[in-house]
Amino acid sequence: MIVTLNNKCNLTRQEFLSYKKQLQQIKTDVTLILCPCSLFLNDIDLDNIKIGAQNVSCTECGSYTGEISATQLKSMNVSYCIVGHSERRKYQQETNREINEKIKNLLKVNIIPILCVGEEKEERQKQIEKQVITKDLEEATQGLSEEEKSKIIIAYEPIWSIGTGIIPQIREIDDVVELMKDKFPNNKILYGGSANEENIETLNQISKIDGYLVGGLSLKPEQLKIFLKKLKK
Ligand code: PGA
Repeated sequence: MIVTLNNKCNLTRQEFLSYKKQLQQIKTDVTLILCPCSLFLNDIDLDNIKIGAQNVSCTECGSYTGEISATQLKSMNVSYCIVGHSERRKYQQETNREINEKIKNLLKVNIIPILCVGEEKEERQKQIEKQVITKDLEEATQGLSEEEKSKIIIAYEPIWSIGTGIIPQIREIDDVVELMKDKFPNNKILYGGSANEENIETLNQISKIDGYLVGGLSLKPEQLKIFLKKLKK
């Protein structure tokens, strides 16, 4: 099982350093991937945790003010990187074409992309979630070989579930995971969206899931410990 901790744009450096100490005490056989604010990547030196980034540039190194390239992430011992998170699609107008470029840049330096896809509430109400997800997956992975594709971790994140405390019905998650496994049989699939220590027993009923991507929970080490204990391995 994999649990990815997406800190988003939270914590000052001082807060991060004390948070890190709490994470250090977690003993688990789950693969934990910590994705902090990029400014703190150099502060992660935990042997129980792998290093992830929350974003990468579409460009290589060069005259691109403010960007962080895949090569630079690699030089910070980053092994995973979230791409296509719905918050970036919404607030930075990130497109599937850009996400595709990011994935290619990451794979070139052997960083595993964690590709997020998921539908809006209205899309689910219109029952077009499978079309939306299929389109996003196809466009984001365009031009990749089967071998390259299989390296990507896919996170199903229904947008209406992120940060809302609402989780889909298990049947709804199962349906999407099945669609993903059908198109990407060798890939690891995560679920993300309000997963926490209280609903994990319900989420444990998802039939085929390889782990979770958590936002809010990532910032609460005590609750995270409970989540990891209850998690079906
Ligand atoms: P959440 O965020 O766990 O706070 O809903 C998940 C995510 O945005 O990846």
